Amino acid sequence: MMPKISQWFIKSAIIYLIIGMCGGILMGMKQDFTLAPAHAHLNLIGWVTLALMGLYYNVHPLKAAGSLARIQFWVSTVGVWIMIPGLALTLMQIAPGELLTILGSIVTLAGVVLFAINVFRD
Ligand code: HEM
Repeated sequence: MMPKISQWFIKSAIIYLIIGMCGGILMGMKQDFTLAPAHAHLNLIGWVTLALMGLYYNVHPLKAAGSLARIQFWVSTVGVWIMIPGLALTLMQIAPGELLTILGSIVTLAGVVLFAINVFRD
């Protein structure tokens, strides 16, 4: 049985992939590629990065069992939730976009740093 935390990562990553793909199809249908960087980051951070973390925790169940993995999941999740809408607003030139993108990207980085701490510790 896959550790719960791996399931959380992979289930949420698949949702981001579906949203990202729908966004890609919408961009193609409208021939308006304004939001392409938001699409790319949702797919690459939301899907690829988080799914890789989920797979890592599946390979290392001891690392998955600690509270650090759970904290890291939520920090990474909140990071994506703030950064991607912030990026979309920035691309549409809507006011709080840049602030949200800066804040969200720092939280997203913090999630990766927590992941790195979990990977490196014995
Ligand atoms: C249904 C699936 C997908 C569709 C229909 C789609 C569609 C698009 C479209 C229309 C663009 C803009 C192209 C342009 O500006 O000329 C784009 C850009 C991009 N997509 Fe996707 N995409 C899909 C899935 C993915 C996935 C799964 C990833 C990554 C894991 C991805 C990564 C990117 C990247 C990196 C860019 C370039 C962004 C940029 O130039 O700023 N896409 N995609």
